[in-house]
Amino acid sequence: MSQDEHTVRIEPQRRILRVAATQPVLEAALAAGLNLPHSCKSGHCGSCRARLRSGQISYPNGVPLGITAEEQAAGHILLCQARAQSDLEVEARFIAGVGEVEIKTLPARIAGLAPLAPDVMQVLLRLPTVEPLRFRAGQYLDVLLPDGRRRSFSIASPPHDNELIELHVRRVAGGGFSERLFGPAAAAAPADGLSLGSLLRIEGPVGQFVYRDGTGAALMVAGGTGFAPLKSMLRHVLENGVPRDIHLYWGARHTQDLYEEARVLEWVRQHPRLRFTAVLSEATVAEAAHHRVGFVHDALLADYPDLSAFEVYAAGPPAMIEALRATGPRHGLPAGRLYFDSFDYAPDSGRR
Ligand SMILES: Cc1cc2nc3c(=O)[nH]c(=O)nc-3n(C[C@H](O)[C@H](O)[C@H](O)COP(=O)(O)OP(=O)(O)OC[C@H]3O[C@@H](n4cnc5c(N)ncnc54)[C@H](O)[C@@H]3O)c2cc1C
Ligand code: FES
Repeated sequence: MSQDEHTVRIEPQRRILRVAATQPVLEAALAAGLNLPHSCKSGHCGSCRARLRSGQISYPNGVPLGITAEEQAAGHILLCQARAQSDLEVEARFIAGVGEVEIKTLPARIAGLAPLAPDVMQVLLRLPTVEPLRFRAGQYLDVLLPDGRRRSFSIASPPHDNELIELHVRRVAGGGFSERLFGPAAAAAPADGLSLGSLLRIEGPVGQFVYRDGTGAALMVAGGTGFAPLKSMLRHVLENGVPRDIHLYWGARHTQDLYEEARVLEWVRQHPRLRFTAVLSEATVAEAAHHRVGFVHDALLADYPDLSAFEVYAAGPPAMIEALRATGPRHGLPAGRLYFDSFDYAPDSGRR
């Protein structure tokens, strides 16, 4: 083993990994096909918290925001930020009901590109026919950039329809990946643009934000492109005839950002057990006449002040997820029944 590599034993999964001293432990685990609990991968959400039984770690970017001093004192670490400085033994969380899927690295060809909103692109990916991607509704994949960086995007298509993998990519100004999908990127770096037929490399499926079978009522909360994993879950439920009451809340700035509202309204017409509330945070006067105004999590809590009987699935900007995590327990929602994916930006992408 090279001097810059260490052995990491992960319990209760009973896995032993070799991890480079510069590589986040979580990244090494995912690359080895071990889908440990995580969400943001940026040290904010705390989902990847684990107990360090033995060994030394370091945090090259400083102690992450997602861990408290008490948790550190109790021997906890955040695997998405921790680098092994010696051999380690780590006790990771085990989440019942999520199951394992095989994480694969695959080539993927862009088979469809359609603007859904001025700053959201629907991307359809075709994978090799001999290597179908088996995933759970709600999971995401990483697009591997040529320089080794990676970008996470949720899968919007459902597991039963995996011929083409659908993504909803929001354009981020200066974004290493998303800008390449939108026309003017070509002006900045023509050789870099992505178009129909372009070949990507992806790794997936990843993530523990997955739909759980059940018959109790569920609330779903999307912020912007956080609609993508919920679309996968909703299509899974509706197209497989799962008998369940679901109320979808979708928050966006303006009506144009509710980029598939017509489709959702059609679902509501066809499926009496599905309800839908759109909430606009920056509504114009005209928009306010037809839509709820405010923050989507406030609308949810106003309508459902007692969440004790619900499961809540939430995906979208970190601020929305944080608000739900902070207020949910005061409304009777046990932490174990809030499932979320926090759409943090890639840890290597600079500005925090
Ligand atoms: C589990 C998971 C699932 C995700 N799913 C989706 C999805 O389905 N659709 C989607 O559009 N996004 C999703 N995201 C967010 C997406 O991965 C990031 O926004 C990503 O960084 C965009 O890559 P990029 O190369 O275009 O921009 P980058 O090169 O990463 O960023 C360029 C600049 O913009 C800043 N930046 C990037 N993203 C944001 C942001 N969201 N808000 C504010 N500043 C930002 C960066 O700090 C940097 O300065 C997900 C994130 C996670 C962790
Ligand atoms: S803090 Fe590590 S995944 Fe969010």
